[in-house]
Amino acid sequence: MAAVVLIGAQWGDEGKGKITDYLAEKADMVVRYQGGNNAGHTVVINNQIFKLHLIPSGIFYPDKLCIIGNGLVIDPKVLLDELDYLQSKGIFTGNLRISGNAHVIMPYHRMLDALEEEFKGEQKLGTTKRGIGPAYKDKASRSGIRIMDLLDKNEFSRKLAYNLKEKNLILTKIYGHEELNYSELLQEYLEYAEKIKKYVADTSLIVNQYLEEGKKVLFEGAQGTLLDLDHGTYPYVTSSNPIAGGACVGSGVGPTKINKILGVVKSYTTRVGEGPFPTELTESMGELIRNRGGEFGTTTGRPRRCGWLDTVILKYAVRINGISDIAFTKLDVLTGISPLKICTGYSYRGKMLTEFPMSLSVLAECEAVYEEMPGWQEDLTGITKFEELPTAARNYISRVEELLKVPVSILAVGPERTKTIIRQKIF
Ligand code: GDP
Ligand code: IMO
Ligand code: MG
Repeated sequence: MAAVVLIGAQWGDEGKGKITDYLAEKADMVVRYQGGNNAGHTVVINNQIFKLHLIPSGIFYPDKLCIIGNGLVIDPKVLLDELDYLQSKGIFTGNLRISGNAHVIMPYHRMLDALEEEFKGEQKLGTTKRGIGPAYKDKASRSGIRIMDLLDKNEFSRKLAYNLKEKNLILTKIYGHEELNYSELLQEYLEYAEKIKKYVADTSLIVNQYLEEGKKVLFEGAQGTLLDLDHGTYPYVTSSNPIAGGACVGSGVGPTKINKILGVVKSYTTRVGEGPFPTELTESMGELIRNRGGEFGTTTGRPRRCGWLDTVILKYAVRINGISDIAFTKLDVLTGISPLKICTGYSYRGKMLTEFPMSLSVLAECEAVYEEMPGWQEDLTGITKFEELPTAARNYISRVEELLKVPVSILAVGPERTKTIIRQKIF
């Protein structure tokens, strides 16, 4: 039995899609357990770039089952568009299964996401405006519509009527927006239901059956540790639990079944949206890393804020997720930058902090304290063995392992599936 949870250790976009796709070859099943199409996971195979938002990054292997778990919020139109997109590229999608318990993102969720952001003004979060927060809000308030409700015409009609009554009041009375039309929405969503129903299954049952049969299951986290609703930089977070613990809740698997937690760490830090970021580089170095690393949002195209590697954050991620192995990505992007800086602590009102602060206002005042290491000039993208990396690159990795007390088991030196160095098997 092998269940591995792959999570983002920073603020998302660590390269989870690439590592998931790589590991999917050895796995039997890939499971998404939270989030929705706020995620943007990139997979590059033979120079072809695929961007996935909802469908697990294991979909490129027709013999692996791909699961969209109960913990997700699904925009049916986005799902169908993504299926069309993959099918148009010759990718088989018959191996997808969707939980009936996952919640549906409705048009009013998308509208309210945008309107709430506008209403917040200076306090805005910088969401992806995909309706994620409002959909999870309805889930928590127990008025949400699940995929299984969508498949039941009577149930859906009833729930839509109730929801629309409330949402139309909010849209018109609070935001001065136009109402949404019940019959049009009903018609539109029943058509989606017809197309989606063949994928819907009891996914918790399937995942557990796989585990009992000794098959290998990879859980693919979206977003990252610092975007976690409970453990991230609240309120500048998403509305789900991307951390490893979320995998159990979001897929219906017990914690005793999980064997390893693979933390995906980008060799520098990025963040999309608002909120404090102690190692942020606002000058030319930030620009250099952004351009070199192609740090523009996969989902919204926004330029990502860039900064040095922050091991205060990473130590926190190791603790919160119980990370057993690290996949260190984008090492190639650091070629030619010397010295390299690693943040090892924060200076806060004359004190040194080595643990990630719980309070956002403390974090906002923290100044990063750095250690410097010599960089390297060599192109890393053709390297396939750890021993062949320049000494400075190996030293950089060793220092990260020393600071985090977790082995770097996988290294990525390019976006392509093949640009991956394995030091320790995950499956
Ligand atoms: P995710 O959301 O964690 O899956 O990450 P994204 O796909 O949003 O962003 C990661 C970006 O970096 C994508 O464009 C990947 O193709 C790319 N990428 C992943 N690993 C590497 C790597 O090792 N080197 C380089 N140069 N690019 C990488
Ligand atoms: P992947 O899976 C980076 C950020 C948004 C915003 C905050 C809340 O590709 O790593 P939301 O729309 O979720 O309510 O926005 O979370 N965010 C991400 N940042 N990568 C992501 O996903 C993200 N998904 C959401 O930018 O700051
Ligand atoms: Mg992404």
